[in-house]
Amino acid sequence: MTGLTVTGVAGLPEIEPGADLGQLISDAAGDLRDGDIVVVTSKIVSKAEGRVVRADREQAIDAETVRVVARRGQTRIVETRHGLVLAAAGVDNSNTAPGTVVLLPEDPDGSARRLRKALGERRGVSVGVIITDTMGRPWRTGQTDAAIGVAGLAPLRDHRGQPDTFGNLLEVTVAAVADEIASAADLVKGKTTQLPAVVVRGLAGLVTGPDGPGAAALIRPAADDMFRLGAADVLAARRTVREFTAEPVDPAAVRRAIAAALTAPAPHHSEPWRFAVLESAQARTALLDDMLAAWTADLRGDGFTEEQIARRVRRGEPLRRAPLIIVPCLAAEAAHPYPDQRRSAAERTMFVVAMGAAVQNLLVALAVEGLGSCWVSSTLFCPQIAVRSLGLPSGWEPMGAIGVGHAAGPPSPRPPRDPERFLLTL
Ligand SMILES: Cc1cc2nc3c(=O)[nH]c(=O)nc-3n(C[C@H](O)[C@H](O)[C@H](O)COP(=O)(O)O)c2cc1C
Repeated sequence: MTGLTVTGVAGLPEIEPGADLGQLISDAAGDLRDGDIVVVTSKIVSKAEGRVVRADREQAIDAETVRVVARRGQTRIVETRHGLVLAAAGVDNSNTAPGTVVLLPEDPDGSARRLRKALGERRGVSVGVIITDTMGRPWRTGQTDAAIGVAGLAPLRDHRGQPDTFGNLLEVTVAAVADEIASAADLVKGKTTQLPAVVVRGLAGLVTGPDGPGAAALIRPAADDMFRLGAADVLAARRTVREFTAEPVDPAAVRRAIAAALTAPAPHHSEPWRFAVLESAQARTALLDDMLAAWTADLRGDGFTEEQIARRVRRGEPLRRAPLIIVPCLAAEAAHPYPDQRRSAAERTMFVVAMGAAVQNLLVALAVEGLGSCWVSSTLFCPQIAVRSLGLPSGWEPMGAIGVGHAAGPPSPRPPRDPERFLLTL
């Protein structure tokens, strides 16, 4: 490839619902050859497919959204059901009648395949088709166009394993050629011109006989997404997980999460947080067995039957199933002494709530690392036993126990909570 041309398809009419885009582009495209790539803005595809709806823009965005990735003021970056992550779910109220909004095509890869077929039938040519939309980039100012629907074109060109000019093998380079072509096409299409389609010539090597995997291949799988949690998702990502897989927990991830715990607020500029990390199965089993014996003795003392006791102690089982246990501990030596009970109790409460803040940080940070957790009361009810079993340093007060591991399944949906029910406005 030594050069390419991008030529606007001039003379397309205003596209109405039900318009035959294949015919219109075929008639207007002029010279069209095998190996050309027809790039069409999604706006006219949506219009032809009747995806212009009379709706409130915010409600339309809600309907198109499967996940809010980030939000600032009125701006929402969301994932659509296509898997695209973009502002306002691609819902657009520019270039459409007042009171109406344009939604993205239902199935942009399907739209691209149909358009390709129509152009092939009408013009007897094998072309590639790209349907584009405009997207921002999180770490760069300004928008560019990207491919949301592709047919007859390899959307990615994998350079991995090929030598560079110095003979070093390329390790990570996979060129998103469909996006690159979409951007190049936008230089000619523009936003305000009457050129919603262009023909790109000079890249015939990318055009394929079969329709290929489509733009779906450009969507990064969730497991490879280093930024999976948007700012809006981070807190909600923490859920109590009671079933874990056997997959071990990365000690480095635990240390990063503990570092996050240590950023919690605490009284008197103190640092009252300590963590016993039970990496060995032996330490975990010893603690759980000792606590179980104490718990059972308590329940017998309460007069429960053996059956009732068996049922109750089953609640401690999430810790047994966890591949790692962390026992958060409070070291409150920085608490100020007071002669009276009222102020002593208040001082104690300050340190306990600071511990809660640290544990919440820890659990959220574990969730960001992809780890589930379950903070249970356990050691709070038998502190001496936990201190003895773990050999905790003097002054470390156990504050429950946290089972940590990879969640065995997705969490149950979190019921929405109305903040108004939880607040008093004064
Ligand atoms: C201090 C504390 C003690 C808890 N003790 C237990 C427990 O003993 N067993 C248990 O299954 N869950 C325990 N939980 C977890 C709660 O049940 C859980 O947070 C609640 O059901 C809300 O679910 P979520 O964490 O997924 O939002 C405890 C939570 C806290 C903060």
